Amino acid sequence: MTQLTIAIAKGRLQAETLDLLSLAGLGLSSETIASRRLAVEDESGRYRLIFVKPADVPVYVEHGVADCGIVGRDVLLEADADLLQPLSLNIGACRLVVAARNDAPASQLELLKVATKYPRIAARHFGARGVAVDLIELSGSVELASVLGLADCIVDLVETGNTLRENGLKIIEVITDSTARLVVNRAS
Ligand code: PRP
Repeated sequence: MTQLTIAIAKGRLQAETLDLLSLAGLGLSSETIASRRLAVEDESGRYRLIFVKPADVPVYVEHGVADCGIVGRDVLLEADADLLQPLSLNIGACRLVVAARNDAPASQLELLKVATKYPRIAARHFGARGVAVDLIELSGSVELASVLGLADCIVDLVETGNTLRENGLKIIEVITDSTARLVVNRAS
């Protein structure tokens, strides 16, 4: 029996992804879902799920260690991996935006300092507009960079908008929308 390995993005997409896979017929018990094991089989033994950081889903799938995976379009745009993307899933809807403090000046004459977890997306976005930027790469809590003046603006993900609101930031521009995608290894 061929076993299919599916890479699951840990974190905000995880619960919705597992619900979707259960609806698709995978037998996942509540113990399996609650466990801290990083690789589990479904009840039929036909599927193995591996739980990895979102940014690592394309890596596992591109290398064929996982046959397929479910991950946000934001991660895929940043990763630029060579994968098949046959399906957009109706989960994990969010937006990639440029945001700044509510009191930020409307225009900026000097080199724009941009903090982000998405350096490639940010470089492409500002590059396409001919805006010179100094990119500051962070791995989380990106909003703080704007609040504390480390950067003039941020490029980050917005889902509910609560993090921006509660930290006194506003959306300057929406770069793109994102939902979760099914990605598949070319050979698989
Ligand atoms: C993401 C994103 C924002 C927040 C947006 O961070 O980078 O900080 O969620 O969500 P909201 O619009 O619903 O408030 P995440 O929670 O993944 O953690 P991180 O800051 O550690 O990257």
